[in-house]
Amino acid sequence: MILLGSDHGGLALKESIKSLLEERGIEFEDCGTYSTDSVDYPDFGEKVARRVSNGEAEKGILFCGTGIGMSIIANKFIGVRAALATDLFTAQMAKEHNNANILVLGGRVLPEELARSMVAIWLDSPFDGGRHQKRLDKISQIEHELRRNNS
Ligand code: RB5
Repeated sequence: MILLGSDHGGLALKESIKSLLEERGIEFEDCGTYSTDSVDYPDFGEKVARRVSNGEAEKGILFCGTGIGMSIIANKFIGVRAALATDLFTAQMAKEHNNANILVLGGRVLPEELARSMVAIWLDSPFDGGRHQKRLDKISQIEHELRRNNS
């Protein structure tokens, strides 16, 4: 199951990606926003990233104007690997090397067709594991050390 979230700057691209997921028969939940009214991206990034972090959902896709704000908020959550992808190569590497569980796209940056292809390649690419898993394990270790030291 894929959770989707956007602010007003990412709304149009979110709608397009919803139709892509429907065409592919992939289950998703739209966590908002649902109109073009101006909203704050952290509110919607949190809705998605918290549930990916706690294991309720395996993956998410977040959208804002640039993708930057959503990346910043999503990566605050333990276990979230949110990747701001800018082209096909970064979308593919986000899965193959980083095993990104949240893909972040900029609605004011990316042409719609490119963004749809980016989502497809991120979904379809396998995680390469091996040396890349070792690097992700280091990130997890640092996350847990930080959590221990802050509590
Ligand atoms: C909203 O105007 C804009 O700041 C937001 O969509 C995003 O680009 C933030 O990073």
